[in-house]
Parts: sequence; structure tokens; C-alpha cells
Amino acid sequence: MTQRAVVRGVGHYLPERVVPNAEFEKTLDTSNDWIVSRSGIERRHFAAEGQTTSDLAVRASRAALENAGMSAEDLDAIIVATSTSDLTFPSTATMVQSALGNTTGFAFDVQAVCAGFVYALANANALIVSGQAKTVLVIGAETFSRILDWTDRSTCVLFGDGAGALILSAEDGTGTNADRGILATDLNSDGRYRDILYVDGGVSTNSTGVLKMEGKEVFRHAVEKLAATADMALSKAGLHHEDIDWIVPHQANIRIIQATAKKLGVSMDKVVVTVQDHGNTSAASIPLALSVGVRNGQIKKGDLVVAEAIGGGLAWGSVVLRW
Ligand code: ACO
Repeated sequence: MTQRAVVRGVGHYLPERVVPNAEFEKTLDTSNDWIVSRSGIERRHFAAEGQTTSDLAVRASRAALENAGMSAEDLDAIIVATSTSDLTFPSTATMVQSALGNTTGFAFDVQAVCAGFVYALANANALIVSGQAKTVLVIGAETFSRILDWTDRSTCVLFGDGAGALILSAEDGTGTNADRGILATDLNSDGRYRDILYVDGGVSTNSTGVLKMEGKEVFRHAVEKLAATADMALSKAGLHHEDIDWIVPHQANIRIIQATAKKLGVSMDKVVVTVQDHGNTSAASIPLALSVGVRNGQIKKGDLVVAEAIGGGLAWGSVVLRW
């Protein structure tokens, strides 16, 4: 018998305020046409004043618990992937734990920027496979609107706020790739690229900072590294491109999504795309897309899903799972 981390439930939350591209035309030298043609983004959600990352995470978690038919006491561990935590400490995950009313599990944050949810899933898988936890809530939640430079048209039009959550729990599998659950993970980082995507502030520099990005450079790395990590995770699982039912990519740019799918030889009708409605929500983008994909009737039980992401670090990775 092999322990598998199997998906029990999924949910998401998006802040009420929807901001169409046209709103940026009022303050910046930009246009809806430029934003749509270069990124595929049409609108994004921004958190209300005072609404924090943990607020979004709690709402997504409640939706996932309801979808799973579980309550907070059923959770052994809570992992939040975020780069925009409410406070320097305690972790956003412990805030979520308290708001949900769980007192018996353990909770911690993971910070791998846009690759954060993939890293968090790999951690949840390791906890379950090693027997340290049976049921794990994994959340990606961000309020990137708090770290944007509103005068920089090349970055502020690209990001949005939101949260998505997944509940995984242990199930006996046969050890073959026909099992449900996480079948393989692949994580990578290369800190030499820190200057192409970063926030120019932080606790030990006594500032919050704003996001800085060399978009073209990130783009170039993204296509090559996302296809490579998806290939690696598939090969670890003993699977091939033709076995993929759904690619659920990090939603940064439609052109990156299309180029990666092409490199993998997978047609766009097997790719879950939400970038037009959410923008880049960093660690929240994959669980948001999973939740929307399930709600839309795209992803079904037994489907082979490949989730892949890249972000600041650079950090990148992928997860192959059977839904
Ligand atoms: N409106 C109008 N013009 C603009 C805007 C805008 N909002 N932003 C930039 N431009 C201009 C630039 O100034 C430039 O003008 P110039 O030629 O006179 O200098 C021109 O448009 C072209 O800019 P490029 O940067 O060459 O445009 P590109 O086609 O590369 O698209 C983009 C830019 C959308 C940022 C793209 O490079 C991209 O998506 N990169 C990857 C982003 C990404 O994947 N991030 C993921 C990780 S995010 C994370 O980890 C937090």
C-alpha cells in the first residue's frame, strides 16, 4: 500500500471590487488594448481597505471545507502560501487556524512567491506520505495590490488579489499512476535571478517596498522552465504529455500559458485559463484556477492535472495529480 494525498475539496474567494483595465487609463499612459494583447488580462479584483490576506484565505478555506463536507476540527495541518502576509508574524496560517476554530493542528506559511502554492502542495504531500498529518488544508492567498507601484504601468496593471484553498487527505493507493492524489512533485529555484523580479523592501530594510520586474527576462525564463518542470514531474510519475487531461498553470500572462502548452504539445482546450478575470494573483492563482475549473465542470474526478508555476527567486515547480 502507498499513502496518497487525495483532494477532498476545493474553494476560492475573490474580493468584491472588480477593476477593469479601463480604470488604469485614467491615471496611466496605458490602454485596455495594450493590457489585453500583451497579457490577456481584462480585469482583476482588489481587496477593500482593511481587508487582509488572512481574511481572503479564511473565506476560501470555508468554501473548501464546505465542498469537502468537513469541519475545521478535521484538519491536522494548515499551510498558507503567500508573499503578502498580514503581519511580519505570526504566520497568516495561524490566523486562519484561529478564525476557523481549529486548535489541534499545526499551521505555517510558505513563501515561494508565484510558485508558493506548488511548494505548499509538495509540503502537504510530504506530511501526508510520511504519516505526520492525515488531512491538510493548503491555501494560496495574496493581496498584491498592497505592494504595487501605481505609477509603474509595466507592473501595476498585471496583478490582482484573491485566495484559493484545497483540502488533501491520506488514502491508501496501489502505488501506480492510476491512483488518485498527488503522483509527483518537482521543485526548483535559482537565486542568481533575484534582480529580475523582487520587492525592494522588507522587515530588515525597514520598509514595505514595491514590486519590480524585468518582464521580458521573466517571460523568457518562464516558458523554458515551466515546460521543463512539467516534463520532469510527468516523467517522475511515469506519465507522458498525452496523459494530461488539464494543465492548470500559474496565471501570469496568456502568452506564457500558450507558449508553455505548445512546448508541451497540449492544446489550449486542455488548459484552465482564468488570467482574463483574475490577473496575476501570485500564489493564489493555481488554487483559484483549480476551483474555477471544477466549478465550470472542466476538472472531474479521475482527471490527470498538471499544475506548474514560476515566480520571484526565481522559484518554480510543478505537481502532477489525479483529481
Ligand atoms: N501600457 C502601455 N505600454 C506599456 C505598458 C502598459 N501598461 N507597460 C509597458 N509598456 C510599454 C513599455 O514601456 C515598452 O515601451 P518601449 O518599447 O517604448 O520601451 C513597451 O510597452 C513594450 O514593453 P515590453 O516589456 O517589451 O512588453 P512585453 O511584450 O514584454 O510585455 C509583460 C510585458 C506583460 C510584463 C510581459 O513581459 C510579461 O508578462 N512578463 C512576465 C511576467 C510574469 O510572468 N510574471 C510571473 C511572475 S510574477 C511573480 O512572481 C510575483
